[in-house]
Amino acid sequence: MNKWTKAIGVVAAAALMIPLAACGSTRGETSGGGASDDEVNVGISMPEQMLERWKIDGENLKEQLEGYGYNVTLQYADGKTDQQTSQIQNMANNGMDYVVIASIDGTATGAAAEQVAANGGTVIAYDRLIMNTDAVDYYATFSLTDVGRMQGEYIEEKLGLKDGATGPFNVELMAGSPTDNNARYYFEGAWEVLGPYFESGVLQSQSGKVPASVDDWQSIGIDNWDRQKAQNEMENRINSFYNDGTKLDAVLAQNDAEATGTYNTIEAAGWDYYPIITGQDAEKANVQAIVQGKQSMTVYKDTRELAKATAEMIKALVDGDTPEAPDTFNNGNKDVPSQLLTPVTVDKDNIQEVLIDGGYISAEDAGL
Ligand code: BGC
Repeated sequence: MNKWTKAIGVVAAAALMIPLAACGSTRGETSGGGASDDEVNVGISMPEQMLERWKIDGENLKEQLEGYGYNVTLQYADGKTDQQTSQIQNMANNGMDYVVIASIDGTATGAAAEQVAANGGTVIAYDRLIMNTDAVDYYATFSLTDVGRMQGEYIEEKLGLKDGATGPFNVELMAGSPTDNNARYYFEGAWEVLGPYFESGVLQSQSGKVPASVDDWQSIGIDNWDRQKAQNEMENRINSFYNDGTKLDAVLAQNDAEATGTYNTIEAAGWDYYPIITGQDAEKANVQAIVQGKQSMTVYKDTRELAKATAEMIKALVDGDTPEAPDTFNNGNKDVPSQLLTPVTVDKDNIQEVLIDGGYISAEDAGL
C-alpha cells in the first residue's frame, strides 16, 4: 500500500468512527445509554483453511470469546495477503475493540494493524507476529525455536548421532514460508541441532540445498507452506538424487503440510522404506500417517490452549486487568509482550497418551 492509499484508508476509518462514537460503542464503559454500551466486539483474522489447525484455532477462539459474552466476527483469508489486509481494514472500520490476527505475511499486515489501532482497537498477534509496527499490543504463540529444536533433536536421536554414529547420513531440509516470521525461528531451532553435524560431515544433503547460515533460511523456504509446492520440491530432489537407490535417511519437514508432500512423493516413487520425516501441528491425516509409519513425528501445539490464552488476554483487558504476557518478542519496532506456550513431540509411542487421552483427537480419527 502506498502512502496515499494508506492516508485515504485512515481518513475513511476516521469518518466511520463518527457514527460509531455517536451510538456510544465505547470500550468497556457503561454510560447507561443503551445495551450496546457494554458490547465488546472482537474480530478474528485467520490466514487460511487448508490446514485444519487454522479452522480449529478460529472456531475455538470464537467459542471461547462468545462464552464471555463478546460479539465475534471470524474471517479466513484464503492464503491471500490482500484479502487479509482488506478483511482487517473492514474490522477496523467496523470499530472492533479487539482484533486477533494470525498473519499470512507478518510484514504486510502492519498497515492494517495500524488502522485498527488508529480506530482505538487493540491488536493481538496470534501464533505469528506482526512485524515492524508499534500497532501490535500483545502476542500469543508457542515457543518457536523449541518447535524446530524438537524436530532437529528427533532426527539426531533416531540417527544415533549423539551416540556417535558417523554416517554420513543423507538429510534433505525444507523450511517454512519465506513470508512467515515464525519460519525463521523454526529453522533456527532445527539448525542449532543439525548445523554442527552438517559442518562435521556426519550429515550431508545430495541436493546441496543447505543454507550457508541461519540467515539464509529462505533459500530453502516453501512458499506459503504449500503442500503441493513441498511435494514438487521433494519430487525434484528425489528424482534427481535418490532414485538410483541412494538412501535418503531423513527429511526435515517443518510442518505437516511439508511432511505430507514428502511422504506422498516417496509413496508414489514406490520405495520400500520411509525416511525419518518430521512435522508440526498434529493434523489428523498426519497423525494417521504416523500410525501407518509414513511420517515419524509431529510437533504438537495444543491450539485449544493458544485460543484459551488469547481469549484470556482479551478478557483481562476488558476487565481492566493486566493480561498474562511474561515474555517479550521483538518485532523490529518494539518488544511485544508475549505469552509462549510449550510444544510437545509426538510420535507413534505417545499418540495415545498425548493426543487421544488428552482429548485432541479421537482414536478413530487417529486411525487406531
Ligand atoms: C504455524 C504452523 C503452521 C504454518 C503453516 C506457522 O506459522 O506456526 O503451525 O503449520 O504456519 O500454516
